Amino acid sequence: MLGRLNHVAIAVKDAAKAARIYSAAFGAQISDPVPMPEHGVTTVFATLPNTKIEFIEPLGDQSPLSRFLERNAEGGIHHLCYEVTDILVARDRLTAEGARILGDGEPRIGAHGKPVLFLHPKDFSGALIEIEQA
Ligand code: CO
Repeated sequence: MLGRLNHVAIAVKDAAKAARIYSAAFGAQISDPVPMPEHGVTTVFATLPNTKIEFIEPLGDQSPLSRFLERNAEGGIHHLCYEVTDILVARDRLTAEGARILGDGEPRIGAHGKPVLFLHPKDFSGALIEIEQA
């Protein structure tokens, strides 16, 4: 059920600025910033051969990142995203095993145009987990 590591997300105040060193020093390919009002973030992706780094910055005053950045002013690792083949099957199996799904439990469309869900960090060793249907 558990597939590839799709991305590691780093929350920052300025996603384009944070991504710049990945392009300048590592030669990674960097996407343009993409506003995602439904998630309250703007994303910039750095593409690596085996995964991606997702830089996220707050968008709007209801952003879920605001509190995180109050506690981590310089930014920090925010979540890991794993691919799953069927997000509803994965959700039901996770729930049956006692994992808590954030929000209303219904998948939303994520940064790659695919359904995503977030899982409670307390059920995953303190790490916020996103699952994405690949
Ligand atoms: Co993500």
